[in-house]
Amino acid sequence: MREFKRHLVTSALPYANGPLHIGHLAGAYLSADVYVRFMRLMGKDIVFIGGSDEHGAAITIKALKEGTTPQEIVDKYHALFVDTFQKIGISFDHYHRTSAQLHHETSQDIFRVLYNKGEFVEKTSEQYFDEEAQQFLADRYIKGTCPKCGHPEAYGDQCENCGTSLSPTELINPFSVLSGTQPVLKSTKHWYLPLDKYEDWLRDWLENGEIDGKFTHYPEDWKNHVLGQCKSWLDGGLQPRAMTRDLDWGVDVPHDIPGHEGKKLYVWMDAPIGYISSTKQWAINNNKNWEDYWKSEDCALIHFIGKDNIVFHSVIFPAILKAHGEYILPYNVPANQFMNLEGNKISTSRNWAVWVHEYIEEFPDKIDELRYCMIKNMPELKDSEFTWKSWQDANNNELVANIANFINRVVVLVNKNYDGEVPEFDESEVFTGSNGDDSEYHEMELLTLNDDIHEMCEHLRTFNFREALNQLMAISSKGNQILQYNEPWKKITKEPEMVAVVLNISLQYVTAISILVRPFLPSTSDKIRSILNLPLLEENNELDEMLDKLSENILLIEAGHKINESNHLFTRIDDIVVSSQVEKLKNSKMENVQSPVSHKPVKEEITYEDFIKNDLRVATIIAAEKVEKADKLLQLTLDVGFETRTVVSGIAMFYKPEEIIGRKVTLLANLAPRKLRGIESKGMILMSENSDGSLQFVAAPEGAENGATIS
Ligand code: MF3
Ligand code: ZN
Repeated sequence: MREFKRHLVTSALPYANGPLHIGHLAGAYLSADVYVRFMRLMGKDIVFIGGSDEHGAAITIKALKEGTTPQEIVDKYHALFVDTFQKIGISFDHYHRTSAQLHHETSQDIFRVLYNKGEFVEKTSEQYFDEEAQQFLADRYIKGTCPKCGHPEAYGDQCENCGTSLSPTELINPFSVLSGTQPVLKSTKHWYLPLDKYEDWLRDWLENGEIDGKFTHYPEDWKNHVLGQCKSWLDGGLQPRAMTRDLDWGVDVPHDIPGHEGKKLYVWMDAPIGYISSTKQWAINNNKNWEDYWKSEDCALIHFIGKDNIVFHSVIFPAILKAHGEYILPYNVPANQFMNLEGNKISTSRNWAVWVHEYIEEFPDKIDELRYCMIKNMPELKDSEFTWKSWQDANNNELVANIANFINRVVVLVNKNYDGEVPEFDESEVFTGSNGDDSEYHEMELLTLNDDIHEMCEHLRTFNFREALNQLMAISSKGNQILQYNEPWKKITKEPEMVAVVLNISLQYVTAISILVRPFLPSTSDKIRSILNLPLLEENNELDEMLDKLSENILLIEAGHKINESNHLFTRIDDIVVSSQVEKLKNSKMENVQSPVSHKPVKEEITYEDFIKNDLRVATIIAAEKVEKADKLLQLTLDVGFETRTVVSGIAMFYKPEEIIGRKVTLLANLAPRKLRGIESKGMILMSENSDGSLQFVAAPEGAENGATIS
């Protein structure tokens, strides 16, 4: 670890096109917040920067769909983000927005510098153009059939059904989301950043932590999955990346650059530069110099992001900064992986998410409980999972049973037996010598506490937040054990000296916890401090101060200090709360499916003659069995009236053989026979498919005869 004079921490700018869910929190915000609060408690010079990403096609598409303007969309979500972050305790020093004038100027300035230095290459390429809407189409504005899986509504950049990354020209039957018409290819000129030319220094920088032989960072401090992604990207060969696009919402290419008309800065030249403009605004508001952070080798730049943004922050943005020439590069990019939810990937479009603002509304007094559960399950190195049960368990078994229980017992005992005053003690009478050396019992305990705290700090410094939280709980457990072992409640009359020492030490633990808990559970820290009748933390350098005291054996809370009555820190969460949340999640699933914006039918138009080529019949399933070694397939025997047929159908994930015998279904009877796993399948049973991929029979009416035609 190298010591830096200043630290600049950023969290990914969220797209202002929808609310935040717990996956966002776990990915880029809580981790940063814990780190920053810790560093402040250590007295470090650190600035925590954020902001809303208010550009991009997802926002204009949303505006289109809702019949409003992009500005209205981003105003709404920006305001929601500010409120959500504040309530969940993400302690940005400045939270900005990319629609701000300052941001437009900042990104244009950087673009201009690169342009003037001749860093860009200009390239003409063919892009899809919507002739009806008279505009070029961003990748997300084009849909079509996925060439990999046949999903009819794949986007120009990705198929959400099979996850394949696509480029718009790979789509089969592309159509414009704006007009529904088929777009045409039209050539357009853009400025590209030649990443291929930067490959050597990028590799050297990522692998050795050096630029031009000068130290920048320790690569071994970077997470493996982050370095791994970067390396495989480099190994795949770097391509020039377009830095501009033909868009109508975003930052204009500076107007003094020839050919700027209709061109906007693409996401790379826009969103991450939001970190810089946000820092500038912070500096203006606080009378600081932003360049001390962005342009000084004394500063460690740390980007907290989710894994989908790794290459962006470890290759593309550094390339921009380096091409500019005056900026420092990131010291670390401690990206997290993804957090799943109740067994499935979080999905905005399928509404499989816990929305943070809804949580806040429903559990306004359980903010730290969510933070605790998220940090405990943070996807630091691999994907993790949130379940409502794990939230309940973490609360009941750890927050209530460990921290709250310990603190409550100590505080109640002190109030009951010492009138709320931290007991004085003379432990020489009771404990001296029992440790086999000269040090006294409370000194031994304070030394252990000191060591344990150092260990926790080390985990925090190295971005191991789960371990750090574990260590905090271990410290609280030790406090509990001291009580449990000495049983002061039994000995108060017989051994008052010993009880005084034990309760005094316990209060030292409680005081330490009031500080140690701060990065993770800020309002719990406030609650403990008020119980202890100590000033609330300002996150100046209280942790550092405490470590100094402990190393010199100075008590953290003095004998004679009067504390307040106990107050419950956490309360148990009942099963019913968990089941109703799980229920709510399941019920809301897909309610909100984002249907494509008004567009004409997805498939090509056909005539009636085309349609009646299908020989559709009513049939009844008379036998069904699993196909060996094929999870998805069932072999069905159908009564089609005029004959009996075998059909193999990919429905085994949704139906058990025994439950479908007797079902009336519809059959495409004249489909050319195919062999599946060696079984000849004659025809196809019609199924409807939900957006989560689940299938159900297109049932024939009860009274219909087998073999009846459908048209
Ligand atoms: N808004 C984008 C996303 O959420 C980009 C965030 S990273 C930043 O993926 F660098 F652009 F801020
Ligand atoms: Zn696909």
